[in-house]
Amino acid sequence: MKTKVISVNREALKDGALLEAAQVLRDGGLVAFPTETVYGLGANALDGQAASRIYAAKGRPSDNPLIIHISKKSDLDQLVETIPETGRKLMDAYWPGPLTMIFAKSSVVPYATTGGLDTVAVRMPDDAVAARLIELSQVPVAAPSANTSGRPSPTAAEHVYQDMDGRIEIIVDGGPVGIGVESTIVDVTEEIPMLLRPGAVTLEMLCRIVGQVEIDPAIAGPVQAGIKPKAPGMKYRHYAPKAELTLVEDRDWNGGPVSINVVNTIRNLVSWSGDKGRKAGIICTDETKNLYPDSAVIRSLGQRNREETIAHNLFGILREFDSLDVDTIYSESFWGENLGQAIMNRLTKAAGYHIMKV
Ligand code: TXA
Ligand code: MG
Repeated sequence: MKTKVISVNREALKDGALLEAAQVLRDGGLVAFPTETVYGLGANALDGQAASRIYAAKGRPSDNPLIIHISKKSDLDQLVETIPETGRKLMDAYWPGPLTMIFAKSSVVPYATTGGLDTVAVRMPDDAVAARLIELSQVPVAAPSANTSGRPSPTAAEHVYQDMDGRIEIIVDGGPVGIGVESTIVDVTEEIPMLLRPGAVTLEMLCRIVGQVEIDPAIAGPVQAGIKPKAPGMKYRHYAPKAELTLVEDRDWNGGPVSINVVNTIRNLVSWSGDKGRKAGIICTDETKNLYPDSAVIRSLGQRNREETIAHNLFGILREFDSLDVDTIYSESFWGENLGQAIMNRLTKAAGYHIMKV
C-alpha cells in the first residue's frame, strides 16, 4: 500500500485535504493525524473491521483497547451507557483536552474497538486539525498512538512515517505536537475515579474537580505476574529505545536543580562503559549538558524547571537514540509531581523500571 502524506497549514486550516482523509475514515481505512498529545492512528470506531486493521498496522495485541476520539461533547452519549457525575464534571472542566475517560460502553461500540471489554475510553482532543478531521468524517474515531507497538509514541509526522509507511492510507502532517506525552486516563465507572495513566491533566487538576482520586498501582511500578492492570496497555513493554536505558536518581534529592551526585554517577558510568567498549548515550537537561564528557552522545530534554519542555522532547529523543550508535543510555530523573508524574511514568517504563538510586 502506498501511504499518502497530506500537509495541512494550521494558520489557515482548510477542509480541502482533510475531506479526502475523512472519506478514507468513513470507508474503513486508516488515517494518522496530529492531536495535542501525540499523533493518533485513526479508524472508524463503530466499524469493528476497521478497528481490527489498527491492531494489524501497529502489531498491537488485540486485547489492548483503543481510545475513541470525538469532536463534540454530545457525541459521547451514543458511545456510553451512562455518564457518571464525576465524568460529567471532568469533561466540563477539561474537554476538549488531554483527558481520556473510561465509561461503561453502549451496544453500538464493537468489542474489536474495546479489546473485548465492556468499558470504552473516550476523549475529545484539543487540536484544530484533529477536531475538524473527526467532524468531517462524521464518525467517532478510534485512535491509539500511531507508533509500532512498543516504540515511543510519535510526536511528529516523520515519526509516524518511520513506523507506518506502507501500512496505512494517509498521514495528515500537522507539524510537531504540543504536549508530547499521551493523555491522562481516568476510570470514572467507580464511585471514586481512578487514575490509570498520568498525563498533562495532572492528579492535582483532577482532585480539584472531583475531590478524591485513586491511583492504579500499575502507574508506580512493574505489573506483577498474574495481576491484571485496569488499563491493559500498562502491562506491555512500552516506549523502550533499542539500547538499554538506566535512570539515575538521587534518593535525597528534593526537587531543586539536578543533584551533582547524579551527574557524577553518570560520568562514572560513561567512563566505565567506555572501558568495556560500550558507547554510551546521556539524557540530561540544559543545565547539565555541558558537565558530561564528549565521548558520550549527549541529548538535552530541555529546561528542568520547565517541565513542559521535557515532556515535549522526551519521545523524540528516545526515538532518536534508536538511530544513533549507542549500546547503553543513562538518564537523569525528574521530580514526580504535576507533569513530572507523566514524565517519570514514561521514563521508568522506557527503562524497564531499571532505576539506579545513588
Ligand atoms: O493522548 C492519547 O491518549 C493518544 C492520542 C492519539 O489520543 N492515544 C493513546 O492511545 O495514547 P494508546 O492506545 O496508545 O493508549 C491507550 C491506553 C492503553 O493503555 C489502553 O490499555 C487504555 O488506554 N485503554 C483504552 N480503553 C480502555 C478501557 N476501556 N479500559 C481501560 N483502559 C483502556
Ligand atoms: Mg500507545
